Amino acid sequence: MFNFLPILPLIAQVVSGTPLTPRQAAQQVVRLNSIENVAVRQNGLILATNMNQATLHQIDPVAKTSSTAVTVSGASGLSGIAEYQPEKFAVIGGKGIYRVDFTVTPPKSTLIKTITEANNLNGLSAFDENTVLVADAGKGNVLRFDVNTGAYSEVAKDPTMAPTGGIPFGIDGIRYANGTLWYTNIFKNSFHKIPLDPVTAKSTGAQTTLWSNLMGDDLCFGPNGKIYVTTNSRNSLVEVDPTAARPSPVSVGSVTGSTSCSFGRTDRDRNVAYVGGGQGVFAVTVKI
Ligand SMILES: *[C@@H]1O[C@H](CO)[C@@H](O)[C@H](O)[C@H]1NC(C)=O
Repeated sequence: MFNFLPILPLIAQVVSGTPLTPRQAAQQVVRLNSIENVAVRQNGLILATNMNQATLHQIDPVAKTSSTAVTVSGASGLSGIAEYQPEKFAVIGGKGIYRVDFTVTPPKSTLIKTITEANNLNGLSAFDENTVLVADAGKGNVLRFDVNTGAYSEVAKDPTMAPTGGIPFGIDGIRYANGTLWYTNIFKNSFHKIPLDPVTAKSTGAQTTLWSNLMGDDLCFGPNGKIYVTTNSRNSLVEVDPTAARPSPVSVGSVTGSTSCSFGRTDRDRNVAYVGGGQGVFAVTVKI
């Protein structure tokens, strides 16, 4: 999502739910301003975006250093990012969907296509090796987007995805796996799932609301079958049992302004959620 500081008084009014007592303080990996989204490369390096910078940051979680992986020319800020083929990432930059390709040296960014009628693109998830799903937080819908041709079409739209109030943010974080799209609606303090056809990505049934009393920003799948959701102004990463009809999220780490998460991919850190937030990237170790 975005940096909440300018609108914190508003957030204080809309946030509800029980206090979150984290199991642990998160470990800072690097200090960076307002990280929006994170993804982890197969070599273990973390990619991180900021909505006010065209810089795609690359972070070494062992050395605790960061550098610029690539500057996405044409974008003024970056949000959702996901790997759709090994070492090929799709990233949102304004209304454009860009490819960042790490199979070439140096890595290269290319605009795939601009979604001219987009309102406020924010969440992005891989769907299959040729397709990503993109959430429009302003329109309250989800598009499928072909990363080869740039062809796109709406595959889901639901009142639970729509923005509420004066801020054009409804559906925020999205993650797809195995015929189900999981998504948050940040200002509805809600978390949902909806079935998608595994071939066409079109929604095939009604959504289910898992909760409506805890702010959720972006989310990630853990190596233990659990789902992890960042709670932004609630400053935490919560663990969710996706098999529960009404899950009880449990805080597993505190991260100020947590926006997004992604798990480590090496033997050393498969149980570590890297969490982006207002002050950089943090590590939260989970039980597997
Ligand atoms: C999706 O299904 C595969 C194969 O059954 C499984 O390994 C994986 O954990 C599932 N992913 C999620 C997020 O449920």
